[in-house]
Amino acid sequence: MKKMGLNELREAYLEFFRGKEHLTLPSFPLVPKNDNSLLLINAGMAPLKPYFTGVQTPPNRRMATCQKCIRTGDIENVGKTSRHGTFFEMLGNFSFGDYFKEEVIPWAWEFVTKTLELPKDRLYVTIYLDDDEAFDIWTKSTDIDPTRIFRLGKKDNFWEIGQGPCGPCSEIHFDRGEGKILTAEEFVKAGDEDRVVEFWNLVFTQFDKDEFGNYNKLASPNIDTGMGLERIATIMQGTNSIFEVDTIKAILEEVSKVSGVEYGKDRNNDISLRVITDHIRSVTFMIGDGILPSNEGRGYVLRRLLRRAARHGRLLGINNIFLNKICDVVISNSCGAYPELKEKEEYIKKVIKLEEERFSETIDGGIQILNDYIDELIKENKNTLSGEKAFKLYDTYGFPLELTEEILEEKGIKLDIEGFNKEMKEQRERARAAREESNYMGSEDTILNKLPNEIETEFVGYDKVEVESKVATIVVNEGFSTAIMEGEEGVLVTEKTPFYAEMGGQIGDVGFIIGKEGKAEVLDCKNNLAGKTLHFVKVIEGKIEKGEEVKLVVDGLRRDSIRKNHTATHMLHTALKEILGNHVQQSGSYVDEERLRFDFNHFTALTEEEIKSIEKLVNYKIMSVLPVITDVMTIEEAKEKGAVALFDDKYKANVRVVSAGDFSKELCGGTHVGNTGEIGVFKIISEAGVAAGVRRIEALTGMNAIAYMEEKENVIKNLSHVLKCGEKDILNKVNAQISEMKIKDKEISELKKELASGSEEALLNNIKEINGVKFISGVVEDIDGDALRDLGDKLRDKLVDGVVLLGSLNEGKVQFLAMASKGAIAKGVHCGKIIKEVATVAGGSGGGRPDMAQAGGKLPEKMEEAIAKGEELLANLSK
Ligand code: ALA
Repeated sequence: MKKMGLNELREAYLEFFRGKEHLTLPSFPLVPKNDNSLLLINAGMAPLKPYFTGVQTPPNRRMATCQKCIRTGDIENVGKTSRHGTFFEMLGNFSFGDYFKEEVIPWAWEFVTKTLELPKDRLYVTIYLDDDEAFDIWTKSTDIDPTRIFRLGKKDNFWEIGQGPCGPCSEIHFDRGEGKILTAEEFVKAGDEDRVVEFWNLVFTQFDKDEFGNYNKLASPNIDTGMGLERIATIMQGTNSIFEVDTIKAILEEVSKVSGVEYGKDRNNDISLRVITDHIRSVTFMIGDGILPSNEGRGYVLRRLLRRAARHGRLLGINNIFLNKICDVVISNSCGAYPELKEKEEYIKKVIKLEEERFSETIDGGIQILNDYIDELIKENKNTLSGEKAFKLYDTYGFPLELTEEILEEKGIKLDIEGFNKEMKEQRERARAAREESNYMGSEDTILNKLPNEIETEFVGYDKVEVESKVATIVVNEGFSTAIMEGEEGVLVTEKTPFYAEMGGQIGDVGFIIGKEGKAEVLDCKNNLAGKTLHFVKVIEGKIEKGEEVKLVVDGLRRDSIRKNHTATHMLHTALKEILGNHVQQSGSYVDEERLRFDFNHFTALTEEEIKSIEKLVNYKIMSVLPVITDVMTIEEAKEKGAVALFDDKYKANVRVVSAGDFSKELCGGTHVGNTGEIGVFKIISEAGVAAGVRRIEALTGMNAIAYMEEKENVIKNLSHVLKCGEKDILNKVNAQISEMKIKDKEISELKKELASGSEEALLNNIKEINGVKFISGVVEDIDGDALRDLGDKLRDKLVDGVVLLGSLNEGKVQFLAMASKGAIAKGVHCGKIIKEVATVAGGSGGGRPDMAQAGGKLPEKMEEAIAKGEELLANLSK
């Protein structure tokens, strides 16, 4: 048996299928496109679903890929075993209505026995119960011993996920043990014991399962195969642990080196070493595909993996930030097949570092919350922390359960682990229910994605906004129609169109479609999944029929504003790189007729000065009247020319490269101005953070920017009018007024104190004696906290021995104050306790010392009632 490295294996597989006329493509990104049913790509076929269902035409009917995949369903087992991982690569060859069982079975056998040289006496094959066809092909077209073929049921040999393409499958297994040939029963048992491992699944995709559970035969059957690269590597490298596979072992060894912990010496340490090794792979690839840590969706998956790895680092005794160092090994081992890792190396490492730092802060924050919980328990004389609280710490604050347990143990407090597990189970169920709600194809299953394949829609709007064309199809009320009538809304599809369909962050065009007997307003324009352009219309006059010639007219003025904003977005991108540094990468953009929005990665807020420099640079380039030119070329040529590519672009054969002079060069399908001068002017109106490490700039161009500046100018004019001074003096004048106001505030405060002394007399006239304690109480208006305390002091002094309880209402703010003399305290008065209950009545809270306490409240109308409560407490003191 040959010994092959993981990278070598991947190449051998792709090479083999290139030899069988397959188009081999680089892995698709981990983020699914137009598929709501999946958070992350989890199989080789997942990004190819539209080709299987016929929604899109594949670039070639035979394809093969090595697809990066993530599955987190089994995350709890990762680390505990030597087989589980969240990240893996799946080798797959696919036929979209081309070859079928007759071809794929002998090819698979050839690859396994000739290329990989796996011994035939260690191989087994399983097929679906009644799949005689597969049995015949296996026995006639290969030299497998027929007693090594077993028939299994639906659970093992029928492949499907929810709705969609599915079918019987045939799996190839490797027997790690040696000796006599296994019977069917022994084979199943050996599989359970991990002696026999399945490594290649050949799916004969014959059916399309619908929402009622019917298996409808596909017009042309497909082939979908999947072979776990790590799995086959363990076989080829004579191990049964994925952590012993060359490239993965290199990562584990690095973790071992950084932590100073040897592998294979201690079970718990081994778990941590494996968790970090696996998770750092997922994390590195996810960030490389543009995912950022967050609290929802795939961002949350990333955050969870990253924090789990960081946590296990702590368990191994690593006390500093270390994951970004381990990530180096992942990149150097995988960048051959995944060049994006090398391209984004700095960025990936920075995101990891930032998140790991945040996690350290979380740990510190979590400890504080946990300590508060503990204090509460001690106060209440309890000794078990509820499962709900522990789960909240775990789930909301990302605080690891083991750490909660550890800290509780130190304080002799128990944890309601059952309650915790219950919460966890409920959350899982919620997640599962959410997953089941979305069908196999996510949002794709609408009639708009089922337009006949022969309909072509050509976009001809780069240099014109008006064109004549034929109506190819009409959709009204979720059904195809021969006409659309006045008042109706629907979708018109034409053979040619000048309407730009929303794409790459640029909003769709609007305008009119005019026919012989009617006129429709185009409200929006979008592409369906197959890239066909859909005009969303409302007919405002007469009717439009299928097959008729119509005139399509885009709202040109609106398009002009969009073009200005789009070209300015490219220029902003370059300016950001020049002013802030080369790490700046676009993470999203949106361009409509009013403004442009640009999201990019950067780690701090921009300074006023940076914003000014960026604006200045863009405006300077606008005034340089640079020609804006579009060239169509291959992606390789584009890269050679230094064009900026976004995450998705590298999968297309030909790309449009838009350049603004030599200032900006970017891959883009959008519409642009002819030269930068047309933009007129560029103005940034806001800069803010939108997620960890992501900033957002909003800006205006052309007349919109001028209108914005005019508005500001008007504000200045109005101010100068109101302040009765020249524009240059506004600031001085406002400053002078602020100083004047401060002096006046002080005067007011003095006056209020005087007023309060008036209240003082009134209050002193109303001394009560309760339970042998002298008591003054009342509500005073219009005095602030300081004045209230002064008043309290005076009253207490006058009282000599007794209690003062006051409420004040100042600018809508409710405050309470309680003061007590030593004598009163000796009789059991505690101001802190009194004030707490008093404030509660007025919707507030507070506390304090026995002799003095203050509190706030929210309900002015309850103040009298609150003070009465104080009196009641005093009356009940000796009871
Ligand atoms: N799609 C099949 C699998 O994931 C090949 O196993």
